[in-house]
Amino acid sequence: MQQMRVAPSKSQFSFKDFLGLIKNTKPKYWQLFLGLALGLVATGVQLAVPSYAKQLINSFSKQFNIYMLIGIVVLFILSAVISAASGSLLGFFGEDVIQKLRNNIWHKLLHLRVSYFDDVKSGEMTSRLVNDSTQIKDLLSRSFPGLVTAIFTIVGAFAIMLFMDWKMTLIMAFSVPLVMAVMLPIAKKSHAIGHTRQDELARFNGETDETLSEIRLVKLSNAEQQASQQGQTAIGSLYKIGLREAIYDSVAGPIMTAVMMGLIVGILAYGSARVAQGTMTIGAMFSFLMYLFQLMGPAATLGQFFTTLSKASGSTERIQELMQESEEDFDHGTAVDVEGQTLKVESVDFGYEDDQTILHDLSFEAKPNTVVAFAGPSGGGKSTIFSLLERYYEPNQGAIKIGETSINDVSLADWRKQIGFVSQDSAIMAGTIRDNLTYGLTGEYADAQLWAVLQLAFAEKFVREMPEGLDTEVGTRGVKVSGGQRQRLAIARAFLRDPKILMLDEATASLDSESEAMVQKALETLMEGRTTLVIAHRLSTIVDADQIYFIENGHVSGAGKHQELVANHELYREYVETQFNQD
Ligand SMILES: Nc1ncnc2c1ncn2[C@@H]1O[C@H](COP(=O)(O)OP(=O)(O)O)[C@@H](O)[C@H]1O
Ligand SMILES: [Mg+2]
Repeated sequence: MQQMRVAPSKSQFSFKDFLGLIKNTKPKYWQLFLGLALGLVATGVQLAVPSYAKQLINSFSKQFNIYMLIGIVVLFILSAVISAASGSLLGFFGEDVIQKLRNNIWHKLLHLRVSYFDDVKSGEMTSRLVNDSTQIKDLLSRSFPGLVTAIFTIVGAFAIMLFMDWKMTLIMAFSVPLVMAVMLPIAKKSHAIGHTRQDELARFNGETDETLSEIRLVKLSNAEQQASQQGQTAIGSLYKIGLREAIYDSVAGPIMTAVMMGLIVGILAYGSARVAQGTMTIGAMFSFLMYLFQLMGPAATLGQFFTTLSKASGSTERIQELMQESEEDFDHGTAVDVEGQTLKVESVDFGYEDDQTILHDLSFEAKPNTVVAFAGPSGGGKSTIFSLLERYYEPNQGAIKIGETSINDVSLADWRKQIGFVSQDSAIMAGTIRDNLTYGLTGEYADAQLWAVLQLAFAEKFVREMPEGLDTEVGTRGVKVSGGQRQRLAIARAFLRDPKILMLDEATASLDSESEAMVQKALETLMEGRTTLVIAHRLSTIVDADQIYFIENGHVSGAGKHQELVANHELYREYVETQFNQD
């Protein structure tokens, strides 16, 4: 049942994967193509400017041509307007893709199997959603069009220059490898440093995040000093990387400027000589310089493109991997009313990992409207049984049936709608009491209904005393309600959902005795008229149960009523004595 993860092996950019990913978002290609076309037009107009400038400059000696000047200004404006239109269109295109991509990833994440969440850190998942999608958008709507126009500029400018003066152009062209030879090692080095910094930053981010989210543990363990040290180490290595980066960054700038100056001086010297000879016009020389400046931007774009490409390549791979993970199947199965049907677990084997057995040959049944209790040593697999019943995981062997139907043939949404679950510390979301009660439910609920279930759960009083009643915010992870209150809210929620099968996993285990009594009473009301499976940690729950299963090492080692088990099952007797002698 565990899916093999697709091994990330290739580091090369896979165009096929990338296109596949993009195709799934059904992009508005017309925006891309129109944006690209406009970008080329704008570049074409820009390329025309130096040629006009040449004529303008050359015409100075005869007479000033005002129309020519106006013409050049108009060209500039025109190219700016077209450029802006092109940029906007490409931006729209990219935003549209990233929006759909994020929707796809978010949908995927929500529908993945629970086993995926056991293995992958939530930070990694949100990074797919936030960072990786951004990388892909950047490549698509910025770098790729940038590359196309850059190539167009370079080829166009080069062609025009060749046409204008091939000798001068070739001299310039030969200087390009020279410049590259100087710049490339620096660029490579600073790229590598950038990489190290990213990795270090990610690690630093993860470490601090972990520490801050467990701040109570840090304080209680007097671990501030230790955490502070850890932080300092990370901050220190970031500092060292920063120093190196500062050097390379500030070396790169001046060298680049020096090289450019050299080129310009060279062209000016050679050009002036040619002008003096009369084989070249002043206008042509200036126009050459203008082209040279026009080439600088595209050259940088070319260099950066490969960085973006390699980033987007990693992102594509990671998103692809995520998209290939298997999902829970919400389409299969029909709606089945579980009311009045016996829940049967038949010879189930299960392990979280492939080579592991947590449950083996486990069988039990729960007749409608009875209370079935599970008891046994910690780690025996009781909560795992509940996870299987909730269909977070699937058994490797055996079957779970409701009546004669396998629960796999009940539609997942319908199945989960009919089971209620209250655990040791019930989950609560940031939001109001009302939000928490109706979470996931689609209907409209009147206040009176909500108060009614709160009353059944012995939660009415404390909610009434809250400053804003049902609309009181409970804080992140419900920090503003106590453990007992949280449990009673979970029970109120269960009342509202009115499940046919109720599962209680040590629901009162973490409570003080006063809260425990109240939660227990609320649970007893909730259990009425439902099939209840309860993982017990209180003796009274076991004693009152219609049937008890004693779970040891993933196996049922004894079943029956309390008295029967006490009489026949030695381990059970010992367990009850050690666990419950305080009751
Ligand atoms: N998500 C999980 N992934 C891997 N192993 C798990 C997971 N949850 C529980 N286990 C393991 O399964 C075994 C049974 O755990 P559990 O069902 O929680 O026992 P119980 O509820 O009886 O105390 C334990 O050995 C536990 O370490
Ligand atoms: Mg448990």
